[in-house]
Amino acid sequence: MHKMNSSSKNVLIKVSDLYRNFEDNSVLQGVNLNIYEGETLVIIGGSGSGKSVLLKHLIGLLKPEKGEVEVEGIKMSSVKQKDLFRIRRKFGMLFQGAALFDSLTVWENVGLGLIEHENMKKKEILPIVKEKLAMVGMSGIEELKPAELSGGMKKRVGLARAIAMNPEIILYDEPTTGLDPIMSDVINKLIRKLQKTLNVTSIVVTHDMKSAYHVGDRMAMLYEGKIIFDGSIENIKTSENPFIRDFIEGKSEEEI
Ligand SMILES: Nc1ncnc2c1ncn2[C@@H]1O[C@H](COP(=O)(O)OP(=O)(O)O)[C@@H](O)[C@H]1O
Ligand SMILES: [Mg+2]
Repeated sequence: MHKMNSSSKNVLIKVSDLYRNFEDNSVLQGVNLNIYEGETLVIIGGSGSGKSVLLKHLIGLLKPEKGEVEVEGIKMSSVKQKDLFRIRRKFGMLFQGAALFDSLTVWENVGLGLIEHENMKKKEILPIVKEKLAMVGMSGIEELKPAELSGGMKKRVGLARAIAMNPEIILYDEPTTGLDPIMSDVINKLIRKLQKTLNVTSIVVTHDMKSAYHVGDRMAMLYEGKIIFDGSIENIKTSENPFIRDFIEGKSEEEI
């Protein structure tokens, strides 16, 4: 696999001066961020800092008050409906808490996009579902219901669903939150593995610094509505900004 330096990389997603509030709660207050093709960008920040809100803007689930998100040069604010579908299909998302449907089986959950968008039948979908479940180490559980799964298994089924439609970009919202250290490691390794085997661009939102260091090529930190750090893992570890230091030291001690 080729590894390019940042100057020759293509910008896949560009976030410019993004503002978003919920009534009097100003969440995003001028976010600027580039996401480059093929990288794994980790976005860190405290609980409630707006990480999930930012992710939802990337995929067009939330609209900004002001500012712009461009995906492959297309402005999400003025995108035509047919382009919006095409762009959405580039994304796979692992939601916080996996967000599986309890009344559906594992295969129905993983195959949901294929059922809804491709109009495929069970016998066409099953081989794809099995392939994706095998990729996340969850073979043989197609007929189980989410209630029969542990937290780590649910996350992996959620991940199988995220990759079911062969996305170019995978968004992970708190992939290790709520998992024990061993299962967190399994998920971290999976993120790395998928990045290599699928050649995808990944954006991982987390407040788990151990996970951030493990999976990230580059790091961005959200604080008081803005990106206060954007750079390499080596650079964040040596940052002298007190807000960054407090965050990375506090969290890494807690998690280890
Ligand atoms: N749909 C919503 N309606 C109102 N407030 C929201 C909504 N989504 C998020 N918020 C608020 O925005 C802030 C950032 O939330 P979020 O992005 O979920 O934080 P986190 O960094 O923990 O993911 C929080 O104060 C949250 O209460
Ligand atoms: Mg969140």
